[in-house]
Amino acid sequence: MFADIQNRIAELRQQLEYHNYRYYVVDTPEISDAEYDQLFRELQALEQAHPDLLIPSSPTQRVGGAALSEFAQVSHITPMLSLNNAFSDAEVQAFDKRVCDAIDLVDINYAVEPKFDGLAISLVYEQGQLVSGATRGDGYVGEDVTANIRTIRAIPMTLATATPPSRIEIRGEVLMLKADFIKLNQVQLKNQLKEFANPRNAAAGSLRQLDPRITAARGLHFFAYGVGQCEGWDMPSHHSQMTQQLATWHLPVARQVAVVVGVAGLLDYYQRIGNMREQLPFDIDGVVYKVDDLAQQAQIGYIARAPKFAIAHKFPAQEATTLVLDIDVQVGRTGAITPVARLAPVLVGGVTVTNATLHNEDEILRKDIRIGDSVNVRRAGDVIPEVVSVVLSRRPVDARRFVMPTRCPVCGSHIVRLENETIARCTGGLYCPAQRKQALWHFASRRAMDIDGLGEKLIEQMVDADLVQHPADLYRLGLLNLVGLERMAEKSAQNLLVAIEKSKHTTLARFIYALGIRHVGEQTAKDLARYFGNLDSLIKADELNLLQVPDVGGVVANAILQFFAEPHNRTVVDLLCAAGVHWDDAMPDNVVNSALLGKVFVITGTLPTLSRDEAKAKLEAAGAKVTGSVSKKTDYVLVGADAGSKLSKAQDLGIAIIDEVSLLNLLGQQHD
Ligand code: IVH
Repeated sequence: MFADIQNRIAELRQQLEYHNYRYYVVDTPEISDAEYDQLFRELQALEQAHPDLLIPSSPTQRVGGAALSEFAQVSHITPMLSLNNAFSDAEVQAFDKRVCDAIDLVDINYAVEPKFDGLAISLVYEQGQLVSGATRGDGYVGEDVTANIRTIRAIPMTLATATPPSRIEIRGEVLMLKADFIKLNQVQLKNQLKEFANPRNAAAGSLRQLDPRITAARGLHFFAYGVGQCEGWDMPSHHSQMTQQLATWHLPVARQVAVVVGVAGLLDYYQRIGNMREQLPFDIDGVVYKVDDLAQQAQIGYIARAPKFAIAHKFPAQEATTLVLDIDVQVGRTGAITPVARLAPVLVGGVTVTNATLHNEDEILRKDIRIGDSVNVRRAGDVIPEVVSVVLSRRPVDARRFVMPTRCPVCGSHIVRLENETIARCTGGLYCPAQRKQALWHFASRRAMDIDGLGEKLIEQMVDADLVQHPADLYRLGLLNLVGLERMAEKSAQNLLVAIEKSKHTTLARFIYALGIRHVGEQTAKDLARYFGNLDSLIKADELNLLQVPDVGGVVANAILQFFAEPHNRTVVDLLCAAGVHWDDAMPDNVVNSALLGKVFVITGTLPTLSRDEAKAKLEAAGAKVTGSVSKKTDYVLVGADAGSKLSKAQDLGIAIIDEVSLLNLLGQQHD
């Protein structure tokens, strides 16, 4: 009976370890989380009933026990050495030459591996059971972090072999996967705790926790890359065989390990891993080359604290520290104001960086970046470099805080930041050269002033040649200005001038839309035109007036007020009118009193005299809105012959149903 329990416990431990391996090491689980939990709980129950059978390397012991007051010190029997670095192909060639010379051979086989950017760890297994885990420390003495190591699910508690070495020390790197790092920082942010600067810091901070429950919650990972001291086992003859052996014992070994020949093989591997660096699920800072044959390694030997048979070929640093000389702002194509750090030039990942984006005001506050600070700058791929963190210990006493300017550095218009928005914006709109191309393109677009043939490329050329500063300048262009432009023959220049001339006759709605006021799309422009009837009333409108317009809320009203409050924008509007842009003030102010203002209509069936479009135009002219489908928001359904489902739906919802005669009556009322 007792033997049965012992067997069951052993079986459960083995199964749990196996499923851990499937899940955390090879990333192909065989059973569901629920099934795993069931096995886990069965083992827990048996261990509780038989405490004498509990062992520290049981899978139930991973969750993290009591907190420590300090870490005990551990001496490494075989010192944990460091690697020399190579930063260039020439240094790799020199390394290979030294190796070749030392053993009087050429075309050496090298075991090649990623250089994991985490922290070195030594694990000791006795009779196949994990008994201790220690940090590298100074290479001779490290800290005992066994309780924390046990929480790392990728590290087997028991080696998957019936014939383990009596004692083996396995070395590798503890790290945090990029995805887990991002998640951790989200949690930190949510809990108003400090974010970690990178996965390595996060891994180090998590492993050196006195409370293993914290480590357990952080989701650390591990890769094995070597063996230290070993007893009761015949070491294989090659490093690559050794790592393969570790993998068969279910230790995680990176998929990217390989064996290559000579310098050409090394440099090719460096390129290959470099190319996949961004896509790897973990951070690496280079690759490591090791002479594969262990006998050759012994022959080549060590120098000071590093092996001569191995070297780390580092990637150019992706992060560097430099000084913030100043912070100023850039204006984007939509007027967004982005603060930019002007930096003392620094090499980051092989590229000289002098600017870094600070995103927005809140980000500067959050990271507490000040002018005069030393900052860590990161460059990831081709994206704009960014400031990761401040080196607070180096902050000079006269470091200055950034103050968002009140005026656009490009056009002098006001900068505003609306409540609930993180981005500050230049209100210069059409006037601001930084926004000019975008604004001109919008102005000329089909639904705005509809200037045929004035596309993005042409606008770019015109602005770059300083032919056009703002839309009113378009109406001053002559043939001579245009023919000088790329791909602009006389004929097309003439066509363009005709199109520009034609655009002068427009509608108030199109004109308002063309101004490019933030939040004022085509429909809002139509609503505004209908409500105010003329431009002057719109310009003079206060917030209360604006809020009367259908679908205009506080945000839109504010954007309109701000736009017209900016003298530059008023100037552009005046210049446009002076250039001859005009429209018919179709709807006088009395539209405001229309009984139909803001009413929502649906038209269905065939009307006796009016076409649908005519009816729609009349309704819209009276301030009503015409939509396609009947809903609770519909005020009237205008019904003609052969009306179908829309009519029955209106009846169901109890919506007013009118015919053409009633419509004409209603329309007539407004002139009374
Ligand atoms: S072998 C005697 N292999 O690099 C050499 N180290 O500078 C022992 N590292 O402390 C290390 N990836 O933290 C080796 N594939 C790899 C590695 C690696 C990262 C780290 C390790 C070590 C440091 C040496």
